[in-house]
Amino acid sequence: MTKKTIEFPSNFFWGASSSAYQVEGASLTNGKGPSSQDTKVLPEGTADLTVSVDHYHRYKEDIALMAEMGFKSYRFSISWSRVLPNGKGEVNQEGLDFYSNLIDECIKHNIEPIVTMFHFDMPAALDNLGSWGNRDSVQWFVDYAKLLFETYGDRVKYWLTINEQNMLTLVGNVIGTLRVPEGTENVTKEIYQQNHHMLVAQAKAMELCHQLLPDAKIAPAPNIAIAYAASKKPEDALAAQNANAIRNWLYLDMAVYGKYNNLVWTWLADQDALPDIVEGDFESLANAKPDFLGINYYNTLTVREYEAQDGYEVEFKSQQENSGLENMFLGVDNEFLPKTEFGWEIDPIGFRATLREIYSRYHLPILITENGLGAYDELTEDGKIHDDYRINYLRTHIEQMKLAIGDGVEMLGYNPWSAIDLISTHEGIRKRYGFIYVDRDDESVGSLQRYRKDSFFWYQGVIANNGQDL
Ligand code: BG6
Repeated sequence: MTKKTIEFPSNFFWGASSSAYQVEGASLTNGKGPSSQDTKVLPEGTADLTVSVDHYHRYKEDIALMAEMGFKSYRFSISWSRVLPNGKGEVNQEGLDFYSNLIDECIKHNIEPIVTMFHFDMPAALDNLGSWGNRDSVQWFVDYAKLLFETYGDRVKYWLTINEQNMLTLVGNVIGTLRVPEGTENVTKEIYQQNHHMLVAQAKAMELCHQLLPDAKIAPAPNIAIAYAASKKPEDALAAQNANAIRNWLYLDMAVYGKYNNLVWTWLADQDALPDIVEGDFESLANAKPDFLGINYYNTLTVREYEAQDGYEVEFKSQQENSGLENMFLGVDNEFLPKTEFGWEIDPIGFRATLREIYSRYHLPILITENGLGAYDELTEDGKIHDDYRINYLRTHIEQMKLAIGDGVEMLGYNPWSAIDLISTHEGIRKRYGFIYVDRDDESVGSLQRYRKDSFFWYQGVIANNGQDL
């Protein structure tokens, strides 16, 4: 049976993404307070965040390049400590003006600004007060959200709360955000207490957004990737359910229904790690409703039944690699999937499967807020970057997204990672994702000049024909 031609909606948000600390630079100047990213110890051989790719000073040039590609949207984040250097209290007007100008620049080019409120960069001053482990963090975030809604709400219609809260919880050590007080006896409890505070903070921010800005839309932006069972063994199917609950559904169940996933709740209870709940929390969680779901997708995971093994390190290793969780599941390689140069599996069909699963569970429109390939790129002598591998990755994922639309999944847009080369979370700028190449290396050397990659021209064509020819 031949299916009808599938088309992307005419108002589909084709664009791309970035985050403040990974592109801006000017991280300790212009009135900005340091964030957890500025105080973390950078892995050796990683480019300097004080310059990053200097988007702070070159945003006009960058937005013009995005406009040249035909972007309909640009997803970027606001650095909390740029607008509130201490995380609360005194405002940095220069920081507020920077984002105001950035938003205006997008609008000038008919690019919809999609704003992430928090992307891995807690103000260092709040880190010193215990970060998300402090119950006051709920109020800190709500006050910060209010400032953003009041300052930019006249122009920003799409908001994202917390980027990849599931990765902050599962691999905060890898991305440099984990803060656990010395001497903490039950680390799991501490981490899931922090997670609970983030969930309540997010719920209150969503509610506030709806009160203050009735026309705006707001969503969470977790990193969702379904877990496959490694075999047809029933125990492996249970392990996949465990992995899906802990990595994925906890976050979306909370954002959409305000309810703890039962598998996660019982897993935490077994470890005496249930979070302390304050009266009113469940009410706040139940009252808050996202308008859509922001989803970051890179690849799936494959798991089997847990068995203790000598010398086997059980943990999530990076956002997209895992070795498992004690008593719950063990991660295994999937022999059907190739890997990137940085060891992440590539699974476009898993993208379709993930989209189907999310939509059938939550029935909310989906905005892809990240998807992309980190690779070593080479700048040729004549100023070109032949990144056919990236084009191939993006093409196959867009094809599967299109098939998901044919499956009845409601899609709002596609904002892959990343608009421009940037500093990766823990593997430097050598791991490049952008459509726009930046001359900068991990020794922090380079002119910072921008170059159009082959993928730039390819994506320009995709946007121009609304995804019909890939
Ligand atoms: C996501 C993050 O986890 O993946 C981004 O939201 C990050 O901030 C992206 O850069 C790619 O990961 P990495 O580790 O290659 O930078």
